[in-house]
Amino acid sequence: MASKIGLAVLISGGGSNLQALIDACRDPAYPAEIRLVISNIADAYGVERAKKAGIPALVVSHKDFASREEFEQAMITEMEKYPIDLVCQAGFMRILTPLFVKHWEGRLINIHPSLLPKGKGTHGLKVHTKILGDGETESGCTIHYVTEGVDEGDIILQRSVPVLSDDTPETLAARVLEQEHIAYPEAVKLLATQYLTGK
Ligand code: GRF
Repeated sequence: MASKIGLAVLISGGGSNLQALIDACRDPAYPAEIRLVISNIADAYGVERAKKAGIPALVVSHKDFASREEFEQAMITEMEKYPIDLVCQAGFMRILTPLFVKHWEGRLINIHPSLLPKGKGTHGLKVHTKILGDGETESGCTIHYVTEGVDEGDIILQRSVPVLSDDTPETLAARVLEQEHIAYPEAVKLLATQYLTGK
């Protein structure tokens, strides 16, 4: 039996969640390893993080393709050069079409910086602006399967944080991000263990 599953991580930006996964994968007992990182943005800092860790990292720019499907097919072609068992979107800022979602169905997950379904359909600081505007006393992050409906797939794991009375979108985002860095490696470990043990 294989002792690790293979991950592809899709990013568009700073890649702090990618870093959390890189750090988790350094533990020999961790049941997953990152085999490929793809960024759709050429100067995303996450690409540097991958390279520093010795992980193959590619830029596949959506701007180089005439359609979203051609862009996604190019990513699939690159990913299929590796044994990839699970695809992790980590701050990947493109909505994926059914072509990509169906190809990786049940093997494609995302992290969202709110306790879904709260904050559904928003991204970036707007998520936190919405949570504050709604007067929530709790927020957090969600790891979920990606399906054709945005932010609608089954929830794998959530971690919560309090919303404080003097929070700004920025302070809330920072508190949630700390939990994201714990939640993503936890969720991947959970799925990898299920996969490897067949449960
Ligand atoms: C995170 O807040 C994640 O939940 C959201 O985008 C942000 C990415 O941050 N989808 P990073 O690139 O992992 O630092």
